[in-house]
Amino acid sequence: MSRDKSSRRASAEQQTLDVSEAQIAVHWPEEDYFLPPASFIAQANLTDQDVFARFSLDKFPECFKEFADLLDWYKYWETTFDASDPPFWRWFVGGTINACYNCVDRHLTAYRNKAAIHFVPEPEDETVQHVTYQELYVRVNEFAAMLRDSCGLKAGDRVTLHMPMVAELPITMLACARLGVIHSQVFSGFSGAACADRILDSESRLLITMDAYWRGGKLIDHKEKADTAFAEAAEKGHQAEKVLIWQRYSGKYSSPTKLVEGRDVIVNEAVKAFRGKRVEPVQMPAEAPLFLMYSSGTTGRPKGCQHSIGGYLAYVAWTSKYIQDIHPEDVYWCMADIGWITGHSYIVYGPLALAASSVVYEGVPVYPDAGRPWRIAENLGVNIFHTSPTAIRALRRSGPDEPAKYNYHFKHMTTVGEPIEPEVWKWYHRSVGKGEAVIVDTWWQTETGGFLCSTVPALHKMKPGSAGPGIPGIHPVIYDDDGNELARGSGKAGNICILNPWPGAFQTIWKAPERYVKTYYGRYCRDPKSKDWRDWPYMAGDGAVDAADGYFRILGRIDDVINVAGHRLGTKEIESAALLVPDVVEAAVVPVADEIKGRVPELYVSLKPGVEASEDIAKRVADSVVERIGSIAKPHRVLIVPDMPKTRSGKIMRRVLASLSNHQDPGDVSTLANPEIVDSLRALVK
Ligand code: WT7
Repeated sequence: MSRDKSSRRASAEQQTLDVSEAQIAVHWPEEDYFLPPASFIAQANLTDQDVFARFSLDKFPECFKEFADLLDWYKYWETTFDASDPPFWRWFVGGTINACYNCVDRHLTAYRNKAAIHFVPEPEDETVQHVTYQELYVRVNEFAAMLRDSCGLKAGDRVTLHMPMVAELPITMLACARLGVIHSQVFSGFSGAACADRILDSESRLLITMDAYWRGGKLIDHKEKADTAFAEAAEKGHQAEKVLIWQRYSGKYSSPTKLVEGRDVIVNEAVKAFRGKRVEPVQMPAEAPLFLMYSSGTTGRPKGCQHSIGGYLAYVAWTSKYIQDIHPEDVYWCMADIGWITGHSYIVYGPLALAASSVVYEGVPVYPDAGRPWRIAENLGVNIFHTSPTAIRALRRSGPDEPAKYNYHFKHMTTVGEPIEPEVWKWYHRSVGKGEAVIVDTWWQTETGGFLCSTVPALHKMKPGSAGPGIPGIHPVIYDDDGNELARGSGKAGNICILNPWPGAFQTIWKAPERYVKTYYGRYCRDPKSKDWRDWPYMAGDGAVDAADGYFRILGRIDDVINVAGHRLGTKEIESAALLVPDVVEAAVVPVADEIKGRVPELYVSLKPGVEASEDIAKRVADSVVERIGSIAKPHRVLIVPDMPKTRSGKIMRRVLASLSNHQDPGDVSTLANPEIVDSLRALVK
C-alpha cells in the first residue's frame, strides 16, 4: 500500500482481472416505491426515526454498544472499539461471553417449552421435529460433553463440519461454541476434495459429518465424501484424529460406505454415554474466534474468514431483531443453507439469540413441486420468510400460482445473495407475500457477518431491485477507480466501500493476515501507517450505483469471482480443476447470465497440440470441476477452442470471452495478439 495511486491500485488483488460481473450487469430502469403495510409498522421492533441520528458517523463507535447490550455478558467490556492495529479492529475488548449460552441457556426461563428449531425432512411423510429450547439445551450439553471428555477438545481447537440441513447441524455448532471450539462448516454440496482443503487449512482435529441426507427425492450417500476428505487432507499434510458421524435415522446407519475402524465414531451411539451430562459454557474473550467460513477469492485458495464471538453475535442479534423484525413469538424460515454465511447468521446465531423458532428444511425448495415451501409455511405458521432471487425465480417459473393455494401469511420477507430483477421482486411481493409483507433486499457478504445495506422495514419505502441505504451504523460510499469518492446520490457506478468498521466484520483471513489487508484495504487505504479508522475504508469488491434517494443498487462482483445462485465461486478454483484433465492446456471461465441462477460459469478450454476435441474431453473437464469443488460449480458448457483470445503479453482476455458468451459486442479487439480468433470463437459459442 502507498499513497501513490498507481502503485496502490496495482497492489490490490482486484487488479489482476479483465472480466467482472459488474461489466455484464443488466441495466434496470429506476423503479417506483412500495410502502410497508400499516399492519407491519404497527408491530415492528424498530419504528423510531431517531435511529438514524443515533447511528450517524459522529456517534461511531459507541453507537454499537446498543448491539452488544442485546447479549448477556459474564464480564462487561472495557473498550468498545480498539483501533491500535489497523485494520485488525477489536470490538468489546475485555468482555467475556459465550455464544451458546446466549442462544440457548438464557432463554430457558421464559421459553423452555418453545420450539427453537423446526426440522422439516424432505420426505413429506416423515414427521417434522420440533426441538424445544429445553431439548436443544440437553442435546447441546450432551454432545459438548462428548466432544470435551471423549475427544479431548478444548477452546481454540478447530473442527470441520460437513453436514447437511438437519437439526444436528446447529446442535453441533452450538456444542462447539459452548466449549470455545472454532467450527468450520463446509457446505454439504461441496465435494470431499473441497472439504479436504478446508480441513487442511484450518488444521481441524475432527471431521463431523452425517451418513446420508435427502435431496431431490434421493437419499444421498454423504459418508463417502468424508473418506475422500479425510484421506486427501492427510495426504496433503494434516491428519485429523477422528471422523464423527451423525445418523440421519438414529439407530440405523444409512450409508453404503463402510465405517473405518478406530477412526469413525457413530455419534448417536457414543453420545449415549453422556446422557444427562451438563457442561458449563466456557467464558470466552469477546475477541476469540467463533467460527471460520471459507469463501472464494481471486486466487485458487479459499479464504477462511474468521468471525469473532462478541462482535459477530452482537451484530447478527441486532440485525435479526431490527432488520428481520424477529420477535420471540415469530416462526422464522430462512431457506438458505447453514453451510453458507446466510445460514450461520440468519438461521442459527441471530434468530436463536432472540429466542425465535427457526425452521431448518432439509431439501430442495421445488421438490416434489413448487407448492412445497407454501405447505411448510402453512403447517408451521411461518410468518417471516427469507430466501434468494434464484429460489424465487425457480418457484415463480414452476408454480407462479401456487402461493395463492395455501393459507399462510408472511409479515416480512427477505431477499439476499444477488441482485433481484424488479419483475421478480414484484412477483415475490404480490404472489408470495400476497401484498401483505414488507420486503428487505439485504446486501452483504461472508466477510461482513451480517447485513450492510437494506431498508429498515418499517421506516423506509421499498424500491424493487435496490438494496437500500446502509443499515443504521453502516456508512457506504462509492469510489471510482482512481480512489475519488463519488458524491452521494451521484447515480454513477463505482466500487462500493464502507467508511467505518462495524462489530460483525470478520477479523482476518485464517493464517493469511497479509492477504486480508491487501484484498480488502489495499486499494483504498489512505495511509497504511495511520491509526485512524477513517483512513481505512473497507472494499467489498462489488460494483454499485448510489441513486439520488441514497439507495444502493448492487451490480455484481468487480473481481474474479462468479456469483452462482447467490453463492460465490472463484474462477481460479474452477480453472485449476479443468487443468487437472491431462489434455487441457488452458482454461478460462466466465460468468454467463442465466434466467434462474443469475449467473452460471461457462468454461473455455484449449487442448494440447494434436489432441482432437471430443465430447469425452468436455465431459471429463466438467466432471473434474464437480469432483474438485461440487456440483454447484458445474460449467453450463465446456467449449473446446483452438486458441484463447490473448493480449500481446500472452494473457487470456476473459472479457472478450464473457462478451461472446453473453452475446454482447466484445468491442475493440484490435489490440489482441490474435484478433482473428474472435470470429471463429463467435461461431463456436452461438
Ligand atoms: C456477494 C457475497 C450475503 C450472503 C450470501 C452471499 C452478492 C449479496 C446481494 C444483494 C446484490 C448481492 C454480492 C456480494 N450479493 N447480497 N442483496 N444484491 N448482490 O454471500 O457468498 O459472501 O457473496 O453476493 O456480489 O459481494 P457471499
